Amino acid sequence: MSAAHRAIAPDHGQGTDADALLARLRVDGGVPRHVAIIMDGNGRWARKRALPRPLGHRSGMRAVRAVIEAAIEAGVEWLSLFAFSTENWQRPSSEIDALMSLLEEYVAREADSLRENGVCVRVFGDRARLVESAARAIERVERETAHNTRLFLNLFISYSARAELVRAAQQLATEVAEGRLAPAEIDEAAFAARLFTHGCPDPDLLIRTSGEQRISNFLLWQVAYAELFISPVYWPDFGRRELFDALVSFQQRDRRFGRVSA
Ligand code: IPE
Ligand code: IPE
Ligand code: MG
Repeated sequence: MSAAHRAIAPDHGQGTDADALLARLRVDGGVPRHVAIIMDGNGRWARKRALPRPLGHRSGMRAVRAVIEAAIEAGVEWLSLFAFSTENWQRPSSEIDALMSLLEEYVAREADSLRENGVCVRVFGDRARLVESAARAIERVERETAHNTRLFLNLFISYSARAELVRAAQQLATEVAEGRLAPAEIDEAAFAARLFTHGCPDPDLLIRTSGEQRISNFLLWQVAYAELFISPVYWPDFGRRELFDALVSFQQRDRRFGRVSA
């Protein structure tokens, strides 16, 4: 490994620490079925090392693989990753170009390993804004992994939760206008059925890396009762140990859903 590569190699917590956490998860049970992650901090990770931001995104891409593998190991069934928001289109075009080509590279490069690991990939967001080659790579990986059931991986690219809600409202309005739906039939289930995530259980745990304490327009409807876990770690350094740490924290929560404790 060259010195330059070592400088950008992320520290994915390996070894006893992570294994001890995993053992604890297995004994105590109660692993969240659905984990959602706002993968934040690539830019600051790079800045701390005096590297250009795209190198932070590249290291972040490597963290994605580590976290998918760790999620499978822990028995998580659904993993939702926020990769690029609608608001991120307002970044400088050089950064957008770097991110888009990384996303395309990720999908193309990881397709085989995702398929072999039993991962079913789905991508949610405004696909019309993606370049054609990226859209095609996404369609391919979705098609090739559609039969898998070990881990359901939702990637949110060019995604905005508010836009998703508006889209659902438009669909409902159209169905009412066309006489296919009565206004009284619009309940929470009908609304949820028009979201990208229809059929997925709501996230049990929402993780945000890099210490920021905000939702940034991610899954606003779906996280109504998710447990929150803010990690101070920048995304490229978030790995197996950090994920297991979040899962152990989740196990200790008392989820009341508005009721009183048993
Ligand atoms: C997350 O890292 C990746 C995307 C939002 C695309 P950032 O690029 O937001 O990194 P920071 O927050 O500037 O450190
Ligand atoms: C949220 O991170 C979006 C993704 C992680 C893809 P941002 O870095 O865009 O969020 P803000 O700007 O800090 O709220
Ligand atoms: Mg950020």
